[in-house]
Amino acid sequence: MEFSRLVLLCLPAVWALAATAGAAADVPAARSPGCATRCGDIEVPYPFGLDTRCAIHAGFRLNCNKTTTVGGGGSVRLLYKNTEVTRISVQDGKAWFKTWISRQCYNETTNKTVYGNAWINFTSTPFVLSADDNKVIVLGCRSMAYMRSNSYIIGCMSICDAAPKNGSCSGDAGCCQADLPKGVQYYQGFFNSFYNTTRIWRETPCNYVTVMERAAFKFSTTYLTTRAFYDADDARTPVVMEWGITRQTCEQARINKTRPYACVSDHSDCVDGDAGYRCRCSEGFRGNPYIADGCAGSSLLVQGPLVFVHVL
Ligand SMILES: *[C@@H]1O[C@H](CO)[C@@H](O)[C@H](O)[C@H]1NC(C)=O
Ligand SMILES: *[C@@H]1O[C@H](CO)[C@@H](O)[C@H](O)[C@H]1NC(C)=O
Ligand SMILES: *[C@@H]1O[C@H](CO)[C@@H](O)[C@H](O)[C@H]1NC(C)=O
Ligand SMILES: *[C@@H]1O[C@H](CO)[C@@H](O)[C@H](O)[C@H]1NC(C)=O
Ligand SMILES: *[C@@H]1O[C@H](CO)[C@@H](O)[C@H](O)[C@H]1NC(C)=O
Ligand SMILES: *[C@@H]1O[C@H](CO)[C@@H](O)[C@H](O)[C@H]1NC(C)=O
Ligand SMILES: *[C@@H]1O[C@H](CO)[C@@H](O)[C@H](O)[C@H]1NC(C)=O
Repeated sequence: MEFSRLVLLCLPAVWALAATAGAAADVPAARSPGCATRCGDIEVPYPFGLDTRCAIHAGFRLNCNKTTTVGGGGSVRLLYKNTEVTRISVQDGKAWFKTWISRQCYNETTNKTVYGNAWINFTSTPFVLSADDNKVIVLGCRSMAYMRSNSYIIGCMSICDAAPKNGSCSGDAGCCQADLPKGVQYYQGFFNSFYNTTRIWRETPCNYVTVMERAAFKFSTTYLTTRAFYDADDARTPVVMEWGITRQTCEQARINKTRPYACVSDHSDCVDGDAGYRCRCSEGFRGNPYIADGCAGSSLLVQGPLVFVHVL
């Protein structure tokens, strides 16, 4: 008895999902015919495009780079300039990039501290680092590191007064984190050289700093004792970028005569963000607000049991 009640309660949720997927699939992802909207497994929706004709403007042009290895294998990577892109969300106006980790390590052969200071520069592009989704993360037992931007130096000090614990980043146990200001497009990783691993290299050879997606970070004690953090994804971490069509407000964009206003679909709204303005489908609609008729109603969802008949 209990079991069958559970099944009944679950079914409407399944139908709702099916209806949603159907509505989204009806919406074109590209504005012009002949424009590819995928690169490998990754969706590349308009306003992004894989050639200049297909993107809303040059700042939204991505490259789909195929590499073939000897023996017939191959891989596909979506790139913005030289940065790998792993996901694009039109609804949230976000894109996921992979950027480099900075490190400061003791080299036991030369007895010297070596630095690898990574930087990003998205000045004059549609992208800014999301202040909400990312954190500055510093790892080490004798470490003071920063991200240095044009107008900010943000960082923290990480020591090991307490025993490091998996999943914990508190500042006194091998890991610290700091919030990011809004609107950052450029930064360089930077270490205070007075804090180094010269005397503790046997236990913790390296210190690290990176700006990364907060949801993707979970501290592991092995990050201090091994190269696991650096090597996990080829010296890179995921970062969330917000994007805007132009660095204007919605109000400015609507009246601009030289550049067409991007929110062209019916049932779409304009959103002011840290990267400029962007568009989204209005409440109750889904799809692509940058394409004429791109936002389709998902009103099927509220019709209750009728959905079942309709979808089948
Ligand atoms: C990716 O492809 C573009 C053009 O297809 C090329 O200009 C660029 O150099 C390639 N980048 C890499 C990292 O292979
Ligand atoms: C230490 O430096 C030497 C000489 O530059 C280099 O060959 C070696 O790979 C370095 N070791 C590490 C762990 O980076
Ligand atoms: C590095 O330090 C060790 C131990 O202090 C010493 O034996 C070695 O000669 C040093 N190597 C160099 C290149 O200075
Ligand atoms: C960042 O890129 C912009 C535009 O490409 C350039 O003008 C600027 O000099 C770069 N900044 C740094 C610090 O490299
Ligand atoms: C933390 O987790 C790693 C595996 O991810 C494990 O090897 C390590 O021993 C754990 N550290 C502690 C203190 O339990
Ligand atoms: C490492 O830190 C010590 C202070 O703890 C400092 O005296 C030394 O100069 C630093 N080493 C390097 C290579 O910066
Ligand atoms: C219109 O948009 C262009 C490109 O973004 C910009 O350079 C220009 O200043 C804008 N004009 C007005 C009146 O806002």
